[in-house]
This record gives sequence, structure tokens and C-alpha cells, in this order.
Amino acid sequence: MKSIYLVGFMGSGKSTVGRQLAKRLSCAFIDTDVEIEYIQNKTIKEIFADEGEEAFRAYEYQVLKDSPFEGHVISTGGGIIEQSVNREWLKGKKVIYLKASWSTIYHRLKHDENRPIWQDNTRDKEKLLQEREVKYLEVAMYVVETDRMQTEKIVDHILSLMNE
Ligand code: S3P
Repeated sequence: MKSIYLVGFMGSGKSTVGRQLAKRLSCAFIDTDVEIEYIQNKTIKEIFADEGEEAFRAYEYQVLKDSPFEGHVISTGGGIIEQSVNREWLKGKKVIYLKASWSTIYHRLKHDENRPIWQDNTRDKEKLLQEREVKYLEVAMYVVETDRMQTEKIVDHILSLMNE
């Protein structure tokens, strides 16, 4: 099986869906954020605070390009599509965009304190979602709408797409 990549905005459910999907496919699961934290031995929050976003994006690129082509479900950070090298790398692979509306994302993340971009009050996150949408669509082989959908149903839907 070729690896499956999940992309989407923060709070779109990539990690939760990814973990369940991997379980159903009996394959391994990788979360690029967890991988970065492990390699750098720091939380994402610490990396952003100590080294800045640019350093984080460089680590993210390394993890993506070293990710296994086969046998994995790989959940990516919401900003992975910001770099054109990453978009080029993802194109043509089994990429699923988990699409969530602004209101779903906002309700899920309103109390979140661990995502530096979400915490950054100088950034308009709703606008960021709109800007990124184009980039998610650019790399996606499939788009899965996740609003008001239970994880299990999302996973069922992805599995049916994979069997087509
Ligand atoms: C980011 C999303 C985060 C994480 C980092 C930056 C972003 O991942 O990679 O905080 O730029 O949207 P999640 O999408 O898993 O929250």
C-alpha cells in the first residue's frame, strides 16, 4: 500500500482520523508534528518560541521528505502546504484533504494553547484558512468534508475512496 497523507487546517482532525485509519488498515501511523518534537526533543511551542517559524518549517520539510512512501498513514501539520517544495512533493501521492469549516475549527480550538499560529493574535486565522484552502486543494487527490461527521464515519468514507 502506498502511504496515505492527511492534510488540512489545525483542528480538522488529521491526527485523530489518521490514528483510526491506520488501525483499520493495520498499518503504522506517523504524525509529522510528533516526529519533529521527537527529533528536536522540544515541543512545537518551544521550537517556535526559541527558533521561530522558519526553523520549524525547515524541520517539517525534512520530516516530510524522509517519510516512508509505503505502508503508512501520515498526518501532517496544518501549515505543511505553505512551502512550495512540500506541495510539489505531495502532488501525485495519496493525499486526503480533511476539510472543515471555520466555525468547526474555531469551536474545536478556541481553548487551545499549544498551537503557536493559533495563539498569534497578529494573524487572522479565518483569512489564513481561506488562503490555505487553495493550497490544500492543489495537493489533494481526495477531499473529505468533516463537518458534523464522527471520526468513524470519516474513516469509513476514506476507506471506501481507497477501494474505488
Ligand atoms: C501549524 C499547525 C500545527 C503545527 C504547528 C504549525 C500551522 O499542526 O504543525 O503548530 O501552521 O497550521 P496541526 O495542524 O496538527 O495543529
